[in-house]
Amino acid sequence: MLVEGEEMRSLWWDEECGCLKLIDQRRLPFQLKIFDAESIEEVSYAIKKMVVRGAPAIGCAAAYGMVLADDKEKAARILRRTRPTAHDLFYAIDYMLENEGSLEAAHSYVDSTIEKCRKIGEVGEKLIAQGSRILTHCNAGALATVDWGTALAPIRMAKDRDIFVWVDETRPRLQGLLTSWELKQEGIKHALIADNAAGYFMSMGEVDMVIVGADRIASNYDVANKIGTYEKAVLAKENGIPFYVAAPASTFDEGISDGRKIKIEERDAEEVTKIFDYVPDEVRNPAFDVTPAKYITGIITENGIIKPSDKVLR
Ligand code: MRU
Repeated sequence: MLVEGEEMRSLWWDEECGCLKLIDQRRLPFQLKIFDAESIEEVSYAIKKMVVRGAPAIGCAAAYGMVLADDKEKAARILRRTRPTAHDLFYAIDYMLENEGSLEAAHSYVDSTIEKCRKIGEVGEKLIAQGSRILTHCNAGALATVDWGTALAPIRMAKDRDIFVWVDETRPRLQGLLTSWELKQEGIKHALIADNAAGYFMSMGEVDMVIVGADRIASNYDVANKIGTYEKAVLAKENGIPFYVAAPASTFDEGISDGRKIKIEERDAEEVTKIFDYVPDEVRNPAFDVTPAKYITGIITENGIIKPSDKVLR
């Protein structure tokens, strides 16, 4: 991804310190700061506290986290407890256990994640017509995948087609600001909107397609993604707008038959309340929701596009 005109990844292994370096996503877009993780505990902190976030990037951070630990089984247990919904995390941990937690294995895991995202870009850009106005939710860009992104990879590749991106703000963690920051670095025209404005722009005929990422995809193609994705999918269907999900194979969980069985992470109430000086008796903060496959036009993967409607579901 471009950062101040230079190519940069959202995380990388630093040979000099023998540690993992990560762009601290909690500080963006206000400040570009690098977080050093020198132990398995620091990597697990970085994942839990969302220094690094986005399913594929969490998996890549975990891969390097395994390198930093002497006891790989214990490291796997620590990492599995960080965030429950992103399948890539568990996929990466299993891959590292199968490969003795070596640095070479972690490098190859990360390189293959980046390559899958580049291919998602190549597959998905063909769906984007000249002048398209695309809505996206959360951040499924290079920050969330180390490079390229999933939902943002096709958008990056189609950037010379006079496209425009509607960026949902994505309460409560505001990952839309990260998307806006990435698009700005790439010179891609976009507007940040409040989450509850998406339906308005759809109904006014100002959205041609939706592309979002995914945290876990059940075997019936129900998709868990950032909270608020489900309502965007329903609104898209109501307004006749194609709704695409972009995700690598590592996000598919064959072991889960349908989306209702996906574990949804519930995060701290403080994430919701910190912008106002009022503390209600109860706050709920689910970080993800599930979009049933019937709302999904296509899932863009590195191997082509899956059309859930062509498959036998349930
Ligand atoms: O809580 P987050 O910020 O980790 O959630 C991220 C998302 O929901 C992304 O859309 C998803 O991980 C896909 S990232 C390519």
